[in-house]
Amino acid sequence: MYSALPRPASFAPRGPLRGSVRVPGDKSISHRSLMLSALAIGESRVSGLLEGEDVLATAAAMRAMGASIERSGEGEWRIHGVGVGGLLQPQNALDMGNSGTSTRLLMGLVASHAISATFVGDASLSKRPMGRVIDPLSLTGAEFNASPGGRLPLMVRGICPAIPISYRLPVASAQVKSAVLLAGLNTPGITEVIEPVPTRDHSERMLAGFGAELSIETGAQGVRHIRLHGEAELKPQTIEVPGDPSSAAFPIVAALITPGSEVTVTHVGMNPTRTGIFKMLEAMGADLTYSNERVVGGEPVADITARHSALKGIEVPPDVAPSMIDEFPVFFVAASMAEGRMITSGLDELRVKESDRLALMAAGLTAIGATVDECEDGLIIDGSGGAPLPGGATIASALDHRIAMSFAVAGQNVREAVTVDDVSPIATSFPTFETMLAGLAVA
Ligand code: S3P
Repeated sequence: MYSALPRPASFAPRGPLRGSVRVPGDKSISHRSLMLSALAIGESRVSGLLEGEDVLATAAAMRAMGASIERSGEGEWRIHGVGVGGLLQPQNALDMGNSGTSTRLLMGLVASHAISATFVGDASLSKRPMGRVIDPLSLTGAEFNASPGGRLPLMVRGICPAIPISYRLPVASAQVKSAVLLAGLNTPGITEVIEPVPTRDHSERMLAGFGAELSIETGAQGVRHIRLHGEAELKPQTIEVPGDPSSAAFPIVAALITPGSEVTVTHVGMNPTRTGIFKMLEAMGADLTYSNERVVGGEPVADITARHSALKGIEVPPDVAPSMIDEFPVFFVAASMAEGRMITSGLDELRVKESDRLALMAAGLTAIGATVDECEDGLIIDGSGGAPLPGGATIASALDHRIAMSFAVAGQNVREAVTVDDVSPIATSFPTFETMLAGLAVA
């Protein structure tokens, strides 16, 4: 789905960053709003939708399975759904591009419909493990024919009626949780997901918002039992998508590490399953203030102001990881410019994201002069104490949007420009990133 040629870009300090920006809509919520609207009967309206390549892949796939999805303005979309059970056989392979969320959640939807679908993706997605969704979905009776190692391209042959399952998540993954719940939508009886470690709960919130019967019980040690009554009838909704906290993390860290900066990011989703990054930055001494706190579309939202701060290294408790799982690349950038040592562990999942983010961040930060020790399940970083890093290296973004954006942010506090070999992957989640960053520099 990318443009054919890699697009390199260089990033160097241009003085303090100042201003107020709004980041695009939340990626997780955008995917789910299209999927559930496509399964409701009648017209749903979504505003603030992230119009990035990943979400557009979801839109194309839902269209290929019968939904009518139209853009009516900037971020404004209208969806006419087919009803739960009404997905049609797609005529061609579903191209998921770079998007793991589209792939895993749609595998769940297809599993309980009497259709089959082939999923293909780019080189990054084709390396990512799908066994984590194939395993539970196979228990429902759906059949899978995957490439070696449980990877894409793969074919799903759905089954209707599927068997309702009770599944305890072996990895903390909102994608696996959501795949099982979405399969449960068109399955008779109760589908249960047992979640020992909480992960982002957008699926649960939105399923309830669309009228599905869903209960959540939190037992001993915080283990969540999520139960969904199948053969649900979803009612069309009007959804306003909040700004993505994962995208907000980039201008926020840029402001924290760049002397003289003060940046406000408005309309940021503050769902507690997503705000680990802000808590950990504050634990490092970040000056963050929250204003205009409100609820939008069933999700808490706030404006966040970040000012340049003297950051200090901390030890990040592993149980915080799921609530900031996508923010570690930019968090490591903050750590590399803080005073003292940052210790992280329990981050094995970062090795199976759009890239191996532990390996790439360790290599890239080392290349720009940071002191990094790569461990099996985390990084240990000795920061520069606020001083600019040497910079002057070219970083491979490896089809990973967050690696590209993290090094663009690092480029705000270096002695020599940082070059990212290909910034085109940024379009998967944050198409306006480069313009936003350029606009924050004080003229
Ligand atoms: C997502 C869940 C997370 C996250 C991804 C989006 C989602 O993945 O990294 O960017 O929307 O459910 P995992 O479920 O693999 O942790």
